[in-house]
Amino acid sequence: MINNLDFSIMKDGKDYKYYSNGKWRKSTSGDLIQVYNPYNNELIANVQACTMEEADKIIKVAHENIDCWEEFPLNKRAEILNESANLMIKSSEKLGHLLMREIGKPLNSAISEIIRTAEIFKATAESSLQISGETIIGDAFEGYSKEKLSITYRVPLGVVLCIGPFNYPFNLTGSKIAPALMAGNSVVMKPPSQGPLTALHFGIILEKAGVPPGVFNIITGRGSEIGDYLVSHPLIDMINFTGSSETGKFLAKIAGMKPLLLELGGKDAAIILDDADLDITVKAIVSGAFSFSGQRCTAVKRVLPMPGIADKLIEKVTKETLKLTIGDPAKNNIIGPLISSKQCDYVQGLIDDALEKGAVLKCGNKREGNIIWPTILDNVNVDMRIAWEEPFGPVLPFIRINSAEQAIKISNKSEYGLQGMIFTENIDLAFNIAQELEVGTIQVNGKSSRGPDHFPFLGTKSSGLGTQGIKYALESMSRPKVVVMNLSEKGKLIKECFVPEK
Ligand code: NAP
Ligand code: G3H
Repeated sequence: MINNLDFSIMKDGKDYKYYSNGKWRKSTSGDLIQVYNPYNNELIANVQACTMEEADKIIKVAHENIDCWEEFPLNKRAEILNESANLMIKSSEKLGHLLMREIGKPLNSAISEIIRTAEIFKATAESSLQISGETIIGDAFEGYSKEKLSITYRVPLGVVLCIGPFNYPFNLTGSKIAPALMAGNSVVMKPPSQGPLTALHFGIILEKAGVPPGVFNIITGRGSEIGDYLVSHPLIDMINFTGSSETGKFLAKIAGMKPLLLELGGKDAAIILDDADLDITVKAIVSGAFSFSGQRCTAVKRVLPMPGIADKLIEKVTKETLKLTIGDPAKNNIIGPLISSKQCDYVQGLIDDALEKGAVLKCGNKREGNIIWPTILDNVNVDMRIAWEEPFGPVLPFIRINSAEQAIKISNKSEYGLQGMIFTENIDLAFNIAQELEVGTIQVNGKSSRGPDHFPFLGTKSSGLGTQGIKYALESMSRPKVVVMNLSEKGKLIKECFVPEK
């Protein structure tokens, strides 16, 4: 049984180090990235701004340790992941508090993020034990006999680069690390520069749980400075990235032939038919649009109501939105700060554009520090930026529609294709609309969301490439290896067919 973790090298006001080959190191750049609390602008700590030379070294270390880790029996890797999960759970309060402060996530959601990550580690360990190969006999094709057979099993890809976003910096790096390690890869992780502190604790957790030095490594630094270098490095064998569509598309251009798993932005639309259950719909929309102040890829980002329900829906959504608590994330307020004042300016620009073009303000449009009050806009039309751009903030546009066909058209015109929602009691119609929507997942009578984490999770168009979810991520981070046996016919037993007498 492992004792409590020693997090003493990671304290407020300290310069956090990066983690390479089992050691915590300072960058030779002497350059530090400040991590501020977005709620009160207090400096929490600094992280190292690593150089390209350090990126090169860390990738080489991970590359040199591929064989060591691949040789570890699968059941031992699973034990290590399970132990890591236990350590996360033990430290969830402490890590949750840090996460709350570095990204402004409500405290209970921040603690849940740690626990959810631990659950992903456990489920990934369990799921990987079920992975099996297959044997195929050759005689399905003319000219081939049963003596030719292929044996297929899965092998790791090599070094996996895991890059996470600011909004789930622990969970969306953890959900990459777990399948990468279980599949036998070594890992280089780069956390976001706003929100790197909690994710750096993976170094302590995985080391304590038994991951050998060099198998798991963390580099910190600005994406704009070392990102391209990491992504295009010849010793990186696979990239698993979550972040904006802009960054993801750029990475895809420079990554060459490396396999990619990209989870990118979204503009999830909720189509509300006249017969929708009002209470269920309102609850889903308010929580879907405004939890973590709208900073979720799967937030409800547009509502398309039919004429028979639009007025009462908008009134009720506004009424419920006005009840949302606003303020300090430590006190579990639903609406807290956005990640930066730059992001607030962007969101305000979307609101201003819509209001200038005739949208009707139902509530919100107020700003204090990095907090933007939850804002509802009615009568939004397709000429307004908010109809198409991802705010990543607490703004919800209502675009009134007259038919399901119009809703499908507006939904599909988006450059994004993460999830879609349909609220109705007519399940046949919901299924038919679902078939027309160009998105990864359609939720019927529920808000868009990623979990549970064994479900497939994917986006079409600018929303991503490849499929996440425990089983799918394990597949993406490994490849089939095929051995074809050409057996000798010498030892073949000739069996004659028995033809029954008539
Ligand atoms: P971002 O600005 O694209 O950054 C994401 C990560 O990429 C950060 O670690 C960033 O590092 C790094 N990065 C930046 N430039 C890079 C480069 N040239 N090469 C390699 N890495 C680079 O995204 P974000 O603002 O953190 O996250 C918000 C976006 O992510 C939203 O669009 C949201 O919808 C999307 N998202 C999608 C999902 C999903 O599952 N589909 C989940 C969560 C978030 P630095 O921080 O150092 O710049
Ligand atoms: O921000 C994007 C996340 O993948 C959303 O996850 O739906 O569980 O909040 P969630």
